[in-house]
Formats: sequence, structure tokens, C-alpha cells
Amino acid sequence: MKIYPPVAHAMARIAADLIITNAAELLIVPDGGCPRTGPAQGHLGIVRDGAVAVADGRIIGIGRTRDVLGAFSGEKLDASGRVVMPGFVDPHTHLVFGGSREHEYVMKLEGKSYMEIMEAGGGIFSTVRATRAASEDELVAQARRRLDRMLTWGTTTVEAKSGYGLTVEDELKCLRAALRLGREHPADVVSTFLGAHAVPEGMDPDAYIDLLVHEAVPKVATEGLAEFCDVFCEKGVFSVDQSRRLLSAAAEAGLAPKLHADELSQRGGSELAAEVGAVSADHLLMASDAGIQAMAREDVMGVLLPGTPFVLRSDYPRARYMVEQGLPLALATDLNPNCLTEGMPLMVALACVQMRMLPAEAIVAATLNAAYAINRADEVGSLDIGKKADIIILDAPNHIHLPYHFGVNLVDTVIKEGVVVREGQTG
Ligand code: NIG
Ligand code: FE
Repeated sequence: MKIYPPVAHAMARIAADLIITNAAELLIVPDGGCPRTGPAQGHLGIVRDGAVAVADGRIIGIGRTRDVLGAFSGEKLDASGRVVMPGFVDPHTHLVFGGSREHEYVMKLEGKSYMEIMEAGGGIFSTVRATRAASEDELVAQARRRLDRMLTWGTTTVEAKSGYGLTVEDELKCLRAALRLGREHPADVVSTFLGAHAVPEGMDPDAYIDLLVHEAVPKVATEGLAEFCDVFCEKGVFSVDQSRRLLSAAAEAGLAPKLHADELSQRGGSELAAEVGAVSADHLLMASDAGIQAMAREDVMGVLLPGTPFVLRSDYPRARYMVEQGLPLALATDLNPNCLTEGMPLMVALACVQMRMLPAEAIVAATLNAAYAINRADEVGSLDIGKKADIIILDAPNHIHLPYHFGVNLVDTVIKEGVVVREGQTG
């Protein structure tokens, strides 16, 4: 058992605000100071009959129930027969947007491709129109419902991208909405500037990149509206050169690079991610061997978004090859009007069935590695002492049930910084 502060021979027990006891499996997902990769991708650090003690919103003790109860006193929450694990971190979402696109869902089932719909003025452009028409308050109200649902499904930290404004003012409106949500909602929100999500209709892509570089990025950086800058590097959207130009300028302004890379076509986005030292490259459905290897060498996180190939009925990323090559993997929902889901458990299930990730690998990808993908591993992603007490309890006897028992919400209790924000639903 690890206890902080050390109390090897203490006479009195330390007061905790909450002690979760008797977990059938307690998944620490111990943070070794770097993302988990290769054979370690699936290391969960399981404690049987585990307990975790919490004070002031932080984890202060973890280990076997008997040992933790010997060292701490406080209110108890019995997790007998259940799994206790870190809250999910969702490191890639388009949380803030107006409207919805269910009519396109039907068009896709009838055979239209994602790009055909977008080139005809639908897709991202349809959401841009709805987002521009919405006020900041309306966007906050809509996104708050999504965040509520995320919390219900166990997500306690969320990355949120702009990208449906495509004018400087509308992009800033979306980032301000995300910032407000982070302040007002129990979930933590981490913001990414994705002004380069599409080329605004009627505009030249190079001229738009100029606008982003000279006007938008400086404003986003000086107002502290985002930590990351992302770009949709894709055939018919932004080229590798345009993406490089934007990400380099953003990095100089203090926004760490991220990419939507090799999603629908192989464009060299993963190679560019390695070249610019991106924090992550996301999607990677079409990533080349060389791109995957370069990312692994340069410590770029691969963020896989299995909801997108699920709705597009396309091939999935080559997760097994990536793990073999030593690329650390994270999972995310990609929540957006094309892939409309808030739930990380389904991502874990799709990662297992469609990408052959093992349950333990997928859970690490949805917690600790996901925290690394948004530079939050110092605070969340594992149940290490000192991190935020973001903890979920699953109505399941072991972690394999999370993907195995799919399509239902096994997340029973959600604790955010030591506070129960979703009460246990089952006895
Ligand atoms: O990550 N690929 C680009 N962006 C989103 C989809 C956005 C949309 O269709 O509205 C994605 O899949
Ligand atoms: Fe995305």
C-alpha cells in the first residue's frame, strides 16, 4: 500500500473525506511518468479487494481495503463486487456546435460518402451555418447537455475543439463557450483551437491559413482561449504544407500542435505530426507504416476514434500494428454531428472487437494515455496518490465486462474531485 504522507507507525488514523472500499478490482493504471506503450499498453495495476482514500478532492491512499482502513478513517462507500477505476478522459471531441445532421446519417446509409456530402455544402459546412447562427449562450446550453451525458457515462475530463465558426469571431465565440463550460460544469474541459477544420466556402485555403496565422492564433493565444492548435490535414481540406505553416506559427505562439491525420486518405499527416513534435495525431485510419514508426520515434500519441469508422462503415485504424511498433494509443469519442456519441464505453468495446485491442489496453487508452494526449497526466488518468480523485465505479465484477457487456451503461457512480456527481444506480 502507498500512503501519503508516510505513516508507517502512526498511532492515529488520518482523516479522509471518503474511502471507497472492497472493490473486486481496483484499477490504479499507475502512471510511470510517460505514456504506456507496447507490452505496457495493457498494464492496469489491478488491486483485488482494493480501496482508495480521498481528501480535499485528491487521492491520498490506495491499496488493499484492510491496509487503507488501517491508515485512514472517514465516510465509506462500499464497492463490493464492482470495479473502481479512474474516470475516463476523452481527448478528442468537437463539443461545441449548433444543430444536428440526422438527415445526412440517412444519406450516408443510402450510399453518399462523407466527402461528397461536404463538397455539396453539407457536413461541416452545414454545422458551420448552425453554429454561426447560435449565440454563445445557446452553444453553452447545447454543449452542457452533452457534458452532462458524458459525466453520466463516466467521462470526467474532456478535450473540446472549436472548428465550426470558421471566422475569427465565430471561432472565438466557440472557444469562449468551452471555457465557460469548463468553469461551470463538474467535468474538466481542455480547449483546442481548430480554426483549420475546413476552408470557408468561397475562400482560398492559403488566404485562410494566413488569416488564422496572423489574426486568429495571436488572439487565441493572448486571450488564453486554448492550449492546443489542431488542423484537418486531408485531401480537399488542408495540405501538409498548409498544416505545417499553421502548426509552426501556433507553436511559436504557445499552442501545442495536434492533427486530424490520415483520416480519409493517406496525406502524410502522421509524418508531419512526427516532424512538428505534435502532442497527438488523431484518426490515423490510413496512416502509413513509415508515419506510424515516425510518430513512435518522436513520442507522438496516436489517438484512435473508432466511432468515426463505425458511422462511416469504413476500415478501422491498425491498432495492433501500432502497439507492436511502440506507438502509445489513446481512445476518444470524436463527438461531433457526424459521430454523435458521448460515451467512452462504446469506444472501448469497438477498440476491442474492431481493432483487436485487449480490454486492458483499451482501458489504459481511455484513461492514462488519454490524459497524456492532452497534457493532463499530472492531474488525471490514473488513481495515483496526489492526482485528482476522479473515480468511477462500474456495476461489473471485473474490467473485461466494460467492453464485453456492451451497449448499456455500467458506470454506476461518478466521483469528480472527491464529490459524488452521479449516485450509484444499483444496489
Ligand atoms: O474528426 N474530420 C474532421 N472533423 C470531424 C468531423 C467533423 C464533422 O463532420 O462535423 C472528425 O471526424
Ligand atoms: Fe475530430
